[in-house]
Amino acid sequence: MTRSTIALLAGLGSLVLSSCANVAAAPQAAPPQSAEEALRPYYATLDTNVPQANAGAQLDISRAISRIAFGSCNHQNRHQTIWSTIAAHNPELFLMIGDNVYGDFGYRGEADLGTFAHAYQLQASHPEFIAFRNQVPMLASWDDHDFGPNDSGGAFSFRERSEQLFESFWRSSDAVRARPGIYDSVMIGPEGERVQLIILDTRFFRDPLVSLPYSAERRPLGHYGITDSPDATMLGAAQWAWLAGELEKPADLRIIVSSIQLLTDAHNYEKWGNMPLERERFYRALAARNGGGMVVLSGDRHSGAFYQATPEALGEELWELTASSLNLSFGEGDTGAREPDPIRRSGFYSDENFGMLEIDWAAGEVALNLRRSDGESLHAERIRFR
Ligand SMILES: [Fe+2]
Repeated sequence: MTRSTIALLAGLGSLVLSSCANVAAAPQAAPPQSAEEALRPYYATLDTNVPQANAGAQLDISRAISRIAFGSCNHQNRHQTIWSTIAAHNPELFLMIGDNVYGDFGYRGEADLGTFAHAYQLQASHPEFIAFRNQVPMLASWDDHDFGPNDSGGAFSFRERSEQLFESFWRSSDAVRARPGIYDSVMIGPEGERVQLIILDTRFFRDPLVSLPYSAERRPLGHYGITDSPDATMLGAAQWAWLAGELEKPADLRIIVSSIQLLTDAHNYEKWGNMPLERERFYRALAARNGGGMVVLSGDRHSGAFYQATPEALGEELWELTASSLNLSFGEGDTGAREPDPIRRSGFYSDENFGMLEIDWAAGEVALNLRRSDGESLHAERIRFR
């Protein structure tokens, strides 16, 4: 467009405006219906050049997989020594399952989530992390500290910006970017040796939790009570519909990734058990799956442990391995005495740790191992999956 054309159009614009002055005002744009809608024009003005992890190794989904490592709770400001230990165990894939950075460190409620962007920027710059990514493909879910403030859920007004930062950093697929939330699934390997990864989003859609009032009797293990509303959701309608479709696909082994713990009821921190009806619905959905064994991986707790239970709504035995944390432990050794739990099948290890899942396709068994940051095995189990 030439300068004179622009001047002409500008002149026409003022002519049109002045000629409209005596008639009814043009209809106003409808006011935004939510904080998120109101924020979108602002977010559109922020730079789209948000931090990205280095491209890293790519997962080959055409080949059978047998060695998967995973972990959670990694603070960008702390040492990154565990990556070389994990790499030495030769995983073909690493699952980063929440609190992957602590974006809420120093956060004061700013809408641009500057501290989250800064956390990703710092994490992307660690040479140990860059080297690990170059060797091992990674997939990720998030938990509260890389989603929003501590224990936050769907009510977090800036979740769309948070999702943009996550998807940029982790180089999420087009399918993940196209929908609200960051849930994902991947099918790996040929028929007979197919692993389905189901990576849940327990944050973006989660309804508010119920807080227990303080009392002298309240156990010192968190302060969330049971949400008994039948409408309270962990996954949200769209993710539920997606999950049903995923579980219809045939698979030989399904690895369910949930940032928060599924099976245990032994504490009042965040867990699926705080929404028992939603957890029952989840068990029923898993029970209706199109075949294949299952194992659950979780994080969040800053301690690692094995759990085994046979929930009534599921109707079969299920194992869960919680691995946490990668570099932000709050203690040492087995701290299980403070959290008695009838379904825990190991100590409750507060050392820095990661999980290993090895599939023996010939035997139809999964070997699960919780390893300390020096590689030492803290506890191991073998589980038959077919
Ligand atoms: Fe967490």
